[in-house]
Amino acid sequence: MTKNLHFLISIFQSNHLFHSQIMFQLQLLLSILTLSFAAQSKSSTSQFSILQSNHHPKPNLLSISVTKIGAAGDGVKYDTIPIQEAIDACSTIVSKHSRPCHVIFPPGKYLTATIFVKSGVVLDIHQKATILGGSKLEDYPKEQSRWYVILAEDAVDVGIIGGGEINGQGLKFVERFDDKKNVMVSWNHTGACLGDECRPRLVGFIGCRNIKVSGVRLIEPAYWCLHVVRSDKTSICDVTIYGNFNSPNNDGIDIEDSNNTIITRCNINTGDDAICPKSSNGPVYNLTATDCWIRTKSSAIKLGSASFYTFKNFLFDNITIVESHRGLALQIRDGGNVSDMIFSNINISTRYYYPSWWGRAEPIYVTTCPRDASSKAGSISNLLFVNITATSENGIFLSGSRGGVLNNLKFLNMNLTYKRWTKFSDGLVDYRPGCQELVKHQPAGFMMEHIDGLVVEDVVMKWSSDESMRWNNPLDFRPSTVNNISLLNFYSRSYQQQ
Ligand SMILES: *[C@@H]1O[C@H](CO)[C@@H](O)[C@H](O)[C@H]1NC(C)=O
Ligand SMILES: *[C@@H]1O[C@H](CO)[C@@H](O)[C@H](O)[C@H]1NC(C)=O
Ligand SMILES: *[C@@H]1O[C@H](CO)[C@@H](O)[C@H](O)[C@H]1NC(C)=O
Ligand SMILES: *[C@@H]1O[C@H](CO)[C@@H](O)[C@H](O)[C@H]1NC(C)=O
Ligand SMILES: *[C@@H]1O[C@H](CO)[C@@H](O)[C@H](O)[C@H]1NC(C)=O
Ligand SMILES: *[C@@H]1O[C@H](CO)[C@@H](O)[C@H](O)[C@H]1NC(C)=O
Ligand SMILES: *[C@@H]1O[C@H](CO)[C@@H](O)[C@H](O)[C@H]1NC(C)=O
Ligand SMILES: *[C@@H]1O[C@H](CO)[C@@H](O)[C@H](O)[C@H]1NC(C)=O
Ligand SMILES: *[C@@H]1O[C@H](CO)[C@@H](O)[C@H](O)[C@H]1NC(C)=O
Repeated sequence: MTKNLHFLISIFQSNHLFHSQIMFQLQLLLSILTLSFAAQSKSSTSQFSILQSNHHPKPNLLSISVTKIGAAGDGVKYDTIPIQEAIDACSTIVSKHSRPCHVIFPPGKYLTATIFVKSGVVLDIHQKATILGGSKLEDYPKEQSRWYVILAEDAVDVGIIGGGEINGQGLKFVERFDDKKNVMVSWNHTGACLGDECRPRLVGFIGCRNIKVSGVRLIEPAYWCLHVVRSDKTSICDVTIYGNFNSPNNDGIDIEDSNNTIITRCNINTGDDAICPKSSNGPVYNLTATDCWIRTKSSAIKLGSASFYTFKNFLFDNITIVESHRGLALQIRDGGNVSDMIFSNINISTRYYYPSWWGRAEPIYVTTCPRDASSKAGSISNLLFVNITATSENGIFLSGSRGGVLNNLKFLNMNLTYKRWTKFSDGLVDYRPGCQELVKHQPAGFMMEHIDGLVVEDVVMKWSSDESMRWNNPLDFRPSTVNNISLLNFYSRSYQQQ
């Protein structure tokens, strides 16, 4: 806990510094700006107005409004060029002096192809403004790895703020609507990517440092929503994410190969994994997610499934998970090592939806089973789950593997209620992706295999005695590969459902 607090404080201090520096050097900055403009008077940037924003409580904030330089904001005409010009102007003028500049989006709808955010530039989207992502292939760069509506690459001190909306028009990418799972278009015919995960993401930060995403609504991504890759020091707060509940791959926040991330006060309601750290080409250190509300047809919190490197020092606190397909999931399939994770003060409800979505109503799911014969087994150790309340249609699943025993797991102060309220059949254990896929087996309160060191303390399990409840097995050791378990103050009892 203390470690995490230090980490929080250090990030907040650096953000604070970032802002006070801006204010402190403002006088100097404004005089430099005047000079820059005089020098550039023959270029097209001369028509740009650098405003002292009245949109912000902070006086004298340097900013450029996209409408002042020709953005139509009518949601029909592409505004890509004026938006990019505003970003480039902001960037050119201030980058020399490493001071930030805001690109303002006044009320309106701004249809755009990919826009590239540069160092020092913050997009400030008015509460009544929407940035609409294009839905055509030619709206995006050649390389599939750069298919985002908004993309920052190798930039520092970048952000998106202001209370407005970024909308990926995801519904335009649905080929066939289906309550179970929509069928999405694929741009794979270009050869840029394979299969049906071949659509643009909404917002991406790749190789960045000091990222701030605050107060915005990220709506209807065509694919993943907010993607942070190879980055350091990211703060994501007061962000609302809404994606179609039936669309696959509509992840909420994907933190990939990145360190020092704070996610707080977020509201995520979407089809696929809501908060999803991944280690594809590098480790993930120091991530905290607090005070969030989540509903998803997949996992609310998911580590993996890309898990080739270390995940270490994460804190998830004060999170509400509602009617999701899976709650807290560590799906380590590729040899990565996971350690020092705290999950505290979390309320979970999980239910069955449909078998083509991974997850089968498990409130907590921890596994190191390798993806396939060529994958190494990773390890998971030092997990603490404390103050957890769950109501779910399935039990807790803890499945290490021969080469990746789960080590030192603690479950403290938990109230678990098991009941059924949907009609999907149970009796299958879900090891997807890869591993053993779906396996016939009755569920259990805790299903355990390949574990060394497990403490269960002050845990109450309540079982609905309802007709629909065809299972009431509190503990399942399977196979008998479990060592050093301690149960203290552990109760299991049935109750009459109202
Ligand atoms: C993680 O946080 C700790 C504590 O603040 C810090 O000492 C460490 O350098 C951080 N790790 C990385 C990789 O930034
Ligand atoms: C593109 O992906 C779709 C969906 O997975 C598949 O049906 C189709 O065959 C793929 N087309 C190409 C050219 O790969
Ligand atoms: C994260 O920290 C680890 C350990 O210090 C380091 O190897 C890695 O390069 C860092 N990643 C980024 C994106 O800074
Ligand atoms: C927990 O998070 C909610 C927002 O989801 C917030 O309203 C509440 O104040 C937080 N509680 C604590 C104790 O921080
Ligand atoms: C995981 O830890 C094991 C044992 O310490 C080590 O051999 C292995 O290289 C680690 N894996 C990764 C991906 O760091
Ligand atoms: C969980 O539920 C309990 C009791 O219903 C409530 O006191 C607590 O604040 C809730 N916590 C969260 C994180 O929602
Ligand atoms: C579990 O229920 C008991 C009795 O109602 C209560 O005292 C305790 O605080 C609850 N724990 C959690 C984590 O909700
Ligand atoms: C767990 O809940 C108890 C009672 O509400 C509280 O005193 C304690 O600080 C909580 N533990 C953690 C780690 O948040
Ligand atoms: C048993 O597991 C607990 C919790 O993981 C650990 O603290 C303890 O050292 C282990 N005991 C033995 C004998 O391995």
